[in-house]
Order: sequence, then structure tokens, then C-alpha cells
Amino acid sequence: MRLTIVGSGYVGLVTGACLADLGNQVICVDNDTEKIDLLTKSDEIPIYEPGLEELVKKNKENGRLTFSSDIEFGIKDSDVIFICVGTPSRDDGSADLTGIEKVSRIIAEHIDSYKLVVEKSTVPVETSEWIKKTINTFKKNGCEFDVASNPEFLREGSAIEDFMNPDRIVIGVESKKAEELLKELYSPIETKIVVSDIKGAEIIKHASNSFLATKISFINAISNLCDRTGADINAVAEGIGLDSRINRHFLKAGVGFGGSCFPKDIKAFIHISEKLGYSFGLLKEVEKINQEQKDRVIRKIEELLWNLPEKTIAIWGLAFKPHTDDIRSAPSMDIIKSLLKEKAKIRVFDPEAMEKVRKEMGNRIVYCKDVYDAAQDADCVILVTEWNEFKEVDWDRVKSVMKHPAVLDGRNIYDSGKLKNLGFKYAGIGRR
Ligand code: UGA
Repeated sequence: MRLTIVGSGYVGLVTGACLADLGNQVICVDNDTEKIDLLTKSDEIPIYEPGLEELVKKNKENGRLTFSSDIEFGIKDSDVIFICVGTPSRDDGSADLTGIEKVSRIIAEHIDSYKLVVEKSTVPVETSEWIKKTINTFKKNGCEFDVASNPEFLREGSAIEDFMNPDRIVIGVESKKAEELLKELYSPIETKIVVSDIKGAEIIKHASNSFLATKISFINAISNLCDRTGADINAVAEGIGLDSRINRHFLKAGVGFGGSCFPKDIKAFIHISEKLGYSFGLLKEVEKINQEQKDRVIRKIEELLWNLPEKTIAIWGLAFKPHTDDIRSAPSMDIIKSLLKEKAKIRVFDPEAMEKVRKEMGNRIVYCKDVYDAAQDADCVILVTEWNEFKEVDWDRVKSVMKHPAVLDGRNIYDSGKLKNLGFKYAGIGRR
């Protein structure tokens, strides 16, 4: 099929590359000409995602994947148009849909034959209605079109694997034609296709992310009880998660969830629910628990070190999770900002996110070349992101360079007994 992907961000680029790899002719368009230049003229891609650079290169070389800043050409050339533009949070928590509206108007102006317009960006329920109204209001001819919702469930760090081997594909449609087109497009992928109405598909996306975030906040809430009683949250999570009705995924207690999706999507879901007359108290609590997790980290460091001014804290891991350089809503940023407010000195290391953090934090913190460098003269190490390379460290070496051997294990990955035997003070999240 001939496809146009509007918006070459995380979701757009992965979708474009994967759909090209499945044999389609794909144009990825974006109004950021610098990004399009980079994607057209070099083998580099603007984000860090394992395997994506190679997949983009391969499909550019075989001619199935092209990039353009000419959206008009993209619209005219394709049967199916995916909208993958950003829907950031506004100050009141609602999703900013101006990007979606702009694209809908441009589609309306240039539509010259039947088009299937697919919203892939995460949007509040009823956005498709607005897309439809906008195209109908501004189109200049009688060309027919359908709108469909096809939410994406890929995770950063395993995006290609998630796209190619999803647990399910959700398509929200209101015509047989749209359903058939999307089913044909996804026919090379072996998985269950859930067909619903469009509003159902929109709700499925927000509800899925909200449910996963709820699991995380739930286990983080339980970790409070473990802290107060001395029970071990890892054992508790295993005991809960082995019940197949609950399952073990997303039951890892830690410094709180971050990233470009959960925090933003929960806010937007709360907001749209409010607008529809339902106060989503459960999700408000999920958000509150998540904020408290980051405050808990600061209280825990105070328990280890007493006063924070002038103390040196090493932060291991800055990305919101491993295998990405993304620091959007990363717990590390909130923790660093709180520590700086307390006048602590900060030394940081992350395998991928250093450049992005440098842009945000400037010279307020010290950037180090590895975990040992970060631990130099530190009073405490905080493990914030559980990169694999942080799991096996030479603790004797860490201890020899620290001023005071203390570890706050923000992801509960270390053997606390071993660390204590080596002379470290240890604190986990719901674990001693
Ligand atoms: C999330 C969803 O998992 C994807 O299905 C969805 O497509 C995506 O949002 C999106 O809407 O675009 P992502 O944000 O890439 O994916 O990352 P996750 O792996 O879900 O992790 C989110 C946060 O939760 C991270 O900060 C992670 O450290 C935290 N987390 C995750 C925990 O604290 N505990 C857990 O047990 C699991």
C-alpha cells in the first residue's frame, strides 16, 4: 500500500520504518526541515532506539521509505494517512490537539481521492469526531474519506519488537472499507486484531496506559507498608504477580514512572473524564502516589545522610528507563532538582542520556564518564535507572572512591545483604 506518516517523531518514525519493512511504500513527512534533512541525507536518526537506525537505512536503500517536508505531496500520493504528530500536555493537563487540527485542515485542502485517515497519536476520546468535522468543513471537493483510530502500544527501547510482535492490534472504525484496509495492512503481523468503534479504540489507548500506571502506583503504595514493617517488596510483588489474573508485569516498585506517555496520558485522561462529567479519583491518586515516590527518595537520602547541604550525591542513570536516551518526565530530573534545592552537589552518569541532561541542567551538576567517576567522593549513590551495566559493578572499587559508602537502590536491583557485608549503608524502595 502507499502510506503517508505525518509526524516523524518516535511513533511516526518507528511506524514508518516498520510498515515499509512489511512491504509498503511509505513517505514520512514532518514540518521540521532539519529533521527531514538529517533523515534524507545521512544514515543518522534523531532518536536513540535499538535497531531503528538499521531498519531506516535498509528501507531507504530498498526505496520503500522516503522522507519529505512536503505534506501536500504526501497526502496526494497515498491511500492511507497516519497522523502521528505530538499531543503534548497543556498547563491544565489536557492534550494539546492543535497539531492534529493543523494536519486535518491540510488533509482537507489537498484531498483529491478517497483517503483513510488514521489517528495513531494518543488522543482523548472523541478527537476523531473533530478530525472528521474539520475535514468536512475545509475540503473543497466531494472526495470521500474515512477516519479510523489505530492506537500504538510500542514501548521506547523495544519499539520495533513491540510493533512487529504486538499483543494485539486495535482498530477503531466506522466503515467496512476502513476495516478491510487496516486488516489488509496488518495481515503480515500474526496477532489478534481487536475491532471496535472509534471512540472505543481511543479509550482503549488511554485506559491501557492508565491501567499500567495504576499497577506501578499500586505496588509503590504497597512498598510504603514494606518500609514501615521491614517486609521485602520484591517478595511481595512476586507473591502477588504469580497470580495469573494479576501477572508480574509492571509490579516493580521504584522511583516512580516517567517518560513521554504515562504522566501526560494520565493527565489527559483525567481531564477528558472531567470534561465528560466524571471525576476520575482513582487516577488522581495514581498521579499523587507517583509524585510522592520522588519525594520519598529525598526523605530516604536524608535518613542515610542526615543533612543534605554540601553532601555529594552520585546519580546512576538519568533516562526515564533503560535502552533510551529520553529524559522527558524522567524521575531523575525531579530528584536532581530537589537535591539542588537542598544545596547538595550532584555527579551524574548515564550510558545514553548525558547529552540531553547537559542541555537541560547545564553546569549545575557534574557529568562523569562512568559509575566509578560519578561515585568519586560521594556521600551516597542513588541508582535511578536500572541499566544492565549498572547491575554488575565492582563494589570494592565503588567503596574505595566514595567518601561515605551508602547506596539508595531506587529500583531494588541490588543484593542488600552483599552490600551491607561490604560495609555499605543500604536503602531500597520498600526493602532494607
Ligand atoms: C508506555 C507503554 O508501556 C506502551 O505500551 C505505550 O505504547 C507507550 O507508553 C506510549 O503510550 O507511547 P514507555 O513510556 O515507552 O511505554 O515505557 P514503559 O516501559 O511502559 O515504562 C514507563 C515508566 O514506568 C518508566 O519510567 C518505567 O521505569 C516505569 N515502570 C515500569 C516502573 O516503575 N515499574 C514497572 O514495573 C514498570
